[in-house]
Amino acid sequence: MLAILAVRTDPADPLAGLAVAERDEPRPPEGWELVKVVAASLNHHDLFTLQGIGVDPERLPIVLGCDASGVTRDGREVIVHAVISSAPGGDETLAPDFSILSERYDGTMAEWVAVPRRNLVEKPPELSFEEAACLPTAWLTTYRALFTQAGVRPGDTVLVQGAGGGVATAATLLGRAGGLRIWVTSRSEAKRVRALELGAHGAFETGARLPDRVHAVIDTVGEATWSHSLKSLRPGGRMVICGATSGAMPPADLARIFFLQLSVAGSTMGSRDQLARLVTFCEQTGLRPLIDRALPLPEAREGFAAMINGDVFGKVVFTL
Ligand SMILES: NC(=O)c1ccc[n+]([C@@H]2O[C@H](COP(=O)([O-])OP(=O)(O)OC[C@H]3O[C@@H](n4cnc5c(N)ncnc54)[C@H](OP(=O)(O)O)[C@@H]3O)[C@@H](O)[C@H]2O)c1
Repeated sequence: MLAILAVRTDPADPLAGLAVAERDEPRPPEGWELVKVVAASLNHHDLFTLQGIGVDPERLPIVLGCDASGVTRDGREVIVHAVISSAPGGDETLAPDFSILSERYDGTMAEWVAVPRRNLVEKPPELSFEEAACLPTAWLTTYRALFTQAGVRPGDTVLVQGAGGGVATAATLLGRAGGLRIWVTSRSEAKRVRALELGAHGAFETGARLPDRVHAVIDTVGEATWSHSLKSLRPGGRMVICGATSGAMPPADLARIFFLQLSVAGSTMGSRDQLARLVTFCEQTGLRPLIDRALPLPEAREGFAAMINGDVFGKVVFTL
């Protein structure tokens, strides 16, 4: 079968280890099921894998991709929950052995993917396969970050660091639909304009002073925005960290954290139950992921290059 593989890693040139190649079809073990992939979406995680971050070199070559929608052998249209853990039910992301597809097991950028049967969530007909393929990583992570980790209520203000990323666009759309006032930052004027068109209530230059302090911050950027995120919080506010694109070791500024009684919460992916709720949320509100572009799988390299260049607003989807 055709697959997008990480064959080696290179921190400086992630595309060097990307291959569009033939791979044997997966053989699902007992309790697992094969899904014929119709759409798979790109996440920054795939770039990190190609850079050697979070992947065991022994596992290479490995099929990339965390997210997929597709059809089972018996014809069910499904969305694949990307978190693989030995803990049935409960919060799979807290299981000590959990991994995300493409870390320990082959990922979704291929004609077929094998996953535990309980990882399948029914795809409602209202969602296209392309839209559904955006939900399991960026959108699920944002859903949990905003609606469980951030501790906010409708009417509160949330700052989202970044504007055009998969998580950032999900935060704008989900936050707005959930009754939050959403402020975003971007280094790009064009992306700030697009974020306002998407529904953000305010868009500011990265690092700019905000009109007011916020109840919560969703930060996936890390070192480059940490200090601004902390300074933007009102007393008692909460920063939710769900990524560290620019680096993971910022100066902590502990005095600000204890004196203003701030909280810093980590957030990673979401449970299968939360993915099912997110799907229902999209069904009930009519909300749909923003797709920057859809490319045939063999042209995946173009999508990876766009993400490396920061030339993406929304999700990049690969279709089969
Ligand atoms: N914890 C989890 O489970 C989880 C799940 C999904 C994603 N993540 C992480 O979240 C991060 C974003 O993922 P994504 O898929 O949304 O990636 P993406 O689409 O590549 O997002 C890029 C975003 O980050 C901003 N950005 C990047 N570098 C920056 C810098 N130096 N200064 C300021 N802003 C910067 C960009 O803002 P501009 O508008 O300024 O370009 C853009 O909005 C990644 O680190 C990813 O690994 C984690």
